[in-house]
Amino acid sequence: MYILGMESSCDETSAAVVEYRDGVFEIKSNIVASQIETHRLYGGVVPEIASRAHIEAVSSITTEALEVAGITLGELDCVAVTTHPGLIGALLVGVNFAKSLAFANNIPLVSVNHVHGHVAAAYLTDKTLKPKFLSLVVSGGHTSIYVCEDHRTLREIGTTRDDAAGEAFDKIGRVIGMPYPGGAALDKLAYEGDSKAIKLPSPALMHTLDFSFSGIKTAALNYLNSASQKGEQIVCADVAASYTKAIVDAIVKQTSAALEQTGLDTLVLAGGVAANSHLRAALEKMCQGRGVKFIVPPRSLCGDNGAMIAVAGCFEYLGGNFADTSLNASASDEL
Ligand code: KG4
Ligand code: ZN
Repeated sequence: MYILGMESSCDETSAAVVEYRDGVFEIKSNIVASQIETHRLYGGVVPEIASRAHIEAVSSITTEALEVAGITLGELDCVAVTTHPGLIGALLVGVNFAKSLAFANNIPLVSVNHVHGHVAAAYLTDKTLKPKFLSLVVSGGHTSIYVCEDHRTLREIGTTRDDAAGEAFDKIGRVIGMPYPGGAALDKLAYEGDSKAIKLPSPALMHTLDFSFSGIKTAALNYLNSASQKGEQIVCADVAASYTKAIVDAIVKQTSAALEQTGLDTLVLAGGVAANSHLRAALEKMCQGRGVKFIVPPRSLCGDNGAMIAVAGCFEYLGGNFADTSLNASASDEL
């Protein structure tokens, strides 16, 4: 079967065609229109501008996804669209487009949770992957550890109590003058600095699998403010290296504890921050040490994309969970 996956929850408009045959997924096309350059001017995503940019892109990228895949609308078995969580105006663009497309062409429609989409990228990466496994989702909006119970169920066992890791990277990146989004720029800069130069608090909370990133963000900001007040030279690479190490160590610590607690033998890393090279390497090493299989998608499937939504949508289709014209979007984790 062929699934059209549509994603517009934040600053990427994406449409993809994925084929599902004999239990295996294959990407036929995955078109991503990024708005990063537009938002860079403001140092972050401006929701109203994001919605408008989605409206401008959604029709043409869908046509392109079908053309690249060599599939006509009539050959589609399902339209899958991200409905939550995300920016409400941005989500509504994708949802309304997908609803119109599905109902005008008599194609079944399914709703997809964005986080389930990120985890589903792993099925495109390892074709033998089957639940149960442990999943770590680290993005601009999430830092959570889930037990993936079956293809459609994620049970949260740890999460952030305030900001997400991606947001924490972007914030400090912005303050030290990195272009938006700061995450990818800090990743590179961290190689040039001393990770022991600045003492920062750990975002891993004691006696739980939860995180808190507000403390490390404040500590880094205080360090930068007091250094500039004293006229001391700030070595941005040292900030990047120390900050990255503290965040990566905390994520590895909680994930290792989650593996210990659950006894699961596979870890899936997902979300935009899964592109971070320090995090990938540290989790790989921890998994090797524990004899755990580590699955991380290629960078092209870590950020927001339609292919991951198509895969998660396929599981909704197979579970008979269809949507109708009353389908709505939601900014929160619940639809
Ligand atoms: O999953 P995603 O594309 O959107 C959300 O669902 O939030 O994640 C975007 C986040 C941003 O915070 C961005 O800075 C971060 O992923 N990111 C990175 C890297 N590449 C993207 N963070 C750290 N290192 C990277 N290499
Ligand atoms: Zn995302």
